[in-house]
Amino acid sequence: MNPNGMESGGEGSGVPREVPGSYGVPYVSAIRDRLDFYYNQGQDKYFESRVHKYGSTVVRINVPPGPFMARDPRVVAVLDAKSFPVLFDVTKVEKKDLFTGTYMPSTALTGGYRVCSYLDPAEPTHAKVKHMLFSLLASRKDAFIPAFRSHFSSLLATVDSQLLLAGKSDFNKLNDATSFEFIGDAYFGVLPSASDLGATGPAKAAKWLIWQLHPLVTLGLPRILEEPLLHTFHLPPFLVKGDYKALYNYFFAAAAKALDDAEGLGLKRDEACHNLLFATVFNSYGGLKVLLPGVLSRVAAAGEKFHRRLAKEVRAAVADAGGKVTMAALEKMELTKSAVWEALRLDPPVKFQYGRAKTDLSIESHDAVFAVKKGEMLFGYQPCATKDPRVFGATAAEFVGDRFVGEEGSKLLRYVYWSNGRETDSPSVANKQCPGKNLVVLVGRLLVVELFLRYDTFTADVGTDLLGTKLEFTAVTKATSGPEF
Ligand code: HEM
Repeated sequence: MNPNGMESGGEGSGVPREVPGSYGVPYVSAIRDRLDFYYNQGQDKYFESRVHKYGSTVVRINVPPGPFMARDPRVVAVLDAKSFPVLFDVTKVEKKDLFTGTYMPSTALTGGYRVCSYLDPAEPTHAKVKHMLFSLLASRKDAFIPAFRSHFSSLLATVDSQLLLAGKSDFNKLNDATSFEFIGDAYFGVLPSASDLGATGPAKAAKWLIWQLHPLVTLGLPRILEEPLLHTFHLPPFLVKGDYKALYNYFFAAAAKALDDAEGLGLKRDEACHNLLFATVFNSYGGLKVLLPGVLSRVAAAGEKFHRRLAKEVRAAVADAGGKVTMAALEKMELTKSAVWEALRLDPPVKFQYGRAKTDLSIESHDAVFAVKKGEMLFGYQPCATKDPRVFGATAAEFVGDRFVGEEGSKLLRYVYWSNGRETDSPSVANKQCPGKNLVVLVGRLLVVELFLRYDTFTADVGTDLLGTKLEFTAVTKATSGPEF
């Protein structure tokens, strides 16, 4: 199947072993581990050091936030490409109330409902909501490309003028405003800025996201402040109620057609609206806030030679399509597609996945089979799995822009897991794979297309942001040629 013998059983076919690792002393060790995770080691090292210590990619560890937000921080971590997919198999794991992990934000933040991301496919509402989202996305498919091009070409025009005036341009800041407008426009044909929200949508959305994700982030403040404020207790929902209500009002009006359809599927109108808000603001907007700076930073670092290859491909495909960016033109862009998948492989925007063992299970890593008991929490740190050298070889941790090009390259797509499923699989009402999968990949490609229709090359400073990458453009070279470039 692949040069590294990825699918071979190895010693994996033997008698199940105990999962190595230790949870330490209740409370004390969980808090110490939390400090390692946030401050002493950082995420990657936290997991890598434990894999190293126990000589196993399936290992027992504590995960943050731990006390007092999570009832139980103990998990069995699956940290290689072979064991990780157990988390996608809903016959083996239950996916109820664990979207954010070992803690769950208050349902007061979502209108009193457990929204789709927290539902197991066995719960009847899961299929109804997911169906609603598939229908919405299908009904708006012709709006995605024009909406993206109009919002992001004006973003890049702003980049140009900021570079002229100040010599740098903060992409994240522009993206936060632009992605919010783009999504409202693309999904509902109603600009949030033209509603009562005015320009406040992105800030309200960001605040509401923080109320749900604060246990998992650091703001760069001293730990003596962050530990009690962010990592020990939930922020009170009433402090974000007004912001949420304003967002809800936008959806209730802008998404009237989708809500009519949702009632036809047997959903209550308000439950459908809270779900639409969550899928749009948390899943989609939260996703794009992380995805687009991530893709851009990987492409930026790949350098001018790679930019020239992308520009050539993009301009040739667009010229062939009569100067238009069409789905067919995008399909022809092998290198562009590969570069976006490679960015998603290296920096999956959602890094943690969870699932509770439905029965006693055997989990296979490359080297062994492990026994897990019914009810145990399984956890995957995706960057470990998608940078597995047993699958991706010696360059596993590097950006190889053309990794997925061609027949051989495309065989590796089954080890790209960003959507909570293999890139070769499809989301359905019966699984937990992201229903936005195709849209997300499309948007990543459109960003690359827009960039290289406009520029021959660009440079940027890259750093870290709350949830991912921070990128500041430092220079752009305007496109000097057409497809023959
Ligand atoms: C689920 C990633 C964009 C809607 C998920 C999951 C992941 C994910 C990893 C599974 C979480 C879990 O169960 O452990 C992403 C990323 C995105 C993105 C990285 C963008 C960069 C979107 C978009 C939509 C969406 C555009 C719009 C419909 C959802 C929903 C679920 C989900 C509703 C729950 C699925 C279910 O319950 O079956 N997404 N997503 N996501 N995503 Fe996305």
